[in-house]
Amino acid sequence: MKKKIAILGSTGSIGKQTLEIIRNDKKNFKVILLTANKNHFLLSKQIKEFNVKNVIVTNKKSFLILKKKFKKINIINSLENIDKILKFKLDYTMSSISGFEGLKPTIKIIKKTKIIAIANKESIICGWNLIKKEIDKYKTKFIPVDSEHFSIWSVIKNNSPREIKEIIITASGGPFFNLKNNKIKKTPKLAINHPNWKMGKKISIDSATLMNKVFEVIEAKKIFNLDFKKFNILIHPKSYIHSIIRFNNGLIKIVAHETDMKIPIFNSIYYKLNKNYRCKKININILNNLNFNKVDPKKYPTIKILKYIPNKNTLFETLLVSINDELVEMFLKNRISFDEISTKMNQIINSKLFRKYRLKKVNNLAQIEKLNEFVRLKTKSLSVISDIK
Ligand SMILES: NC(=O)c1ccc[n+]([C@@H]2O[C@H](COP(=O)([O-])OP(=O)(O)OC[C@H]3O[C@@H](n4cnc5c(N)ncnc54)[C@H](OP(=O)(O)O)[C@@H]3O)[C@@H](O)[C@H]2O)c1
Repeated sequence: MKKKIAILGSTGSIGKQTLEIIRNDKKNFKVILLTANKNHFLLSKQIKEFNVKNVIVTNKKSFLILKKKFKKINIINSLENIDKILKFKLDYTMSSISGFEGLKPTIKIIKKTKIIAIANKESIICGWNLIKKEIDKYKTKFIPVDSEHFSIWSVIKNNSPREIKEIIITASGGPFFNLKNNKIKKTPKLAINHPNWKMGKKISIDSATLMNKVFEVIEAKKIFNLDFKKFNILIHPKSYIHSIIRFNNGLIKIVAHETDMKIPIFNSIYYKLNKNYRCKKININILNNLNFNKVDPKKYPTIKILKYIPNKNTLFETLLVSINDELVEMFLKNRISFDEISTKMNQIINSKLFRKYRLKKVNNLAQIEKLNEFVRLKTKSLSVISDIK
């Protein structure tokens, strides 16, 4: 029988790569549900190619266009009732909406899928305890798709946290790592141009500021239930090594693969199905020149944020995601400079108004959503920085 799948964020970088894998194996998969925001052109093609009968498109204009075009299929305008439109349990769901918006649908769909593969790091960062509760309740298999977390998960999934001494997560350093001339203006166009990965705009900016690594350490801490002290970051511009795991028994395991997100995506789709990935030969040239560097906090001031993050799940993580989402959007609209993303981030999280969230426990989704709205509003009006000092 064909495996039934859903892709949340099918028009994005991860969503498209997931469909590329499915495209090569249509006889074994049936796409039941796709979701997107604005890109009705691509979504329209995906609906036709994969003969999809359930679609969610959140942007009003795009919704109306698709509704007119596809009269016989179930198209809705909101992710709110994503669980209700599915009449049966799916085999696999890819959660790859970008940003905070991915959290609610991810939590809601867990009960309706046997496997949840999560690329959307914001949902893990803000709502891991809520996600974990649903995963345990409905016995859904969780697979992390972020390449670093997938690599760590592949190696330690059968180890207890006590066996692990240290985990190093690697960072490419982004497009400005080798920048010698400080006078060059770091424009959105340059910042998006990641040296190794083809990704969406938001995550590319986060890679350039290194905020992406701050998020990944939080994500890893939650998924693997380890203390923050066990994590370190090293800059590795070739991105061939994704993680290094040092065990208490003296062994060190280094996980390498090509800079291709299809590897973690493929492995999550074919979990326990024993399918071979057509991988390239080991790249000895890269192995001979791995080149690791410590992170310079002067160059990447966002890294200082790590010292403020509490060990428990708190609303502080939502605060970080929300401020960053807003600041990145402002940078993309040329309202603030690249360097201001990190300076303003540090100012805002240390403000009197927001410091208290380091101690506030996460109880429910409504609380996270309310805080996100409040923080984004405050961050949007940059006068807030002087207001909240
Ligand atoms: N790309 C990577 O290599 C990579 C690696 C690791 C982790 N991740 C994580 O995976 C997630 C997706 O990344 P991406 O690079 O694939 O992002 P992306 O290319 O920007 O795609 C985002 C997807 O989410 C949809 N979307 C955006 N805002 C939405 C909203 N308000 N409501 C509903 N749908 C919305 C987009 O629809 P439209 O296209 O219609 O706007 C698109 O389908 C992110 O959390 C990212 O951090 C990505």
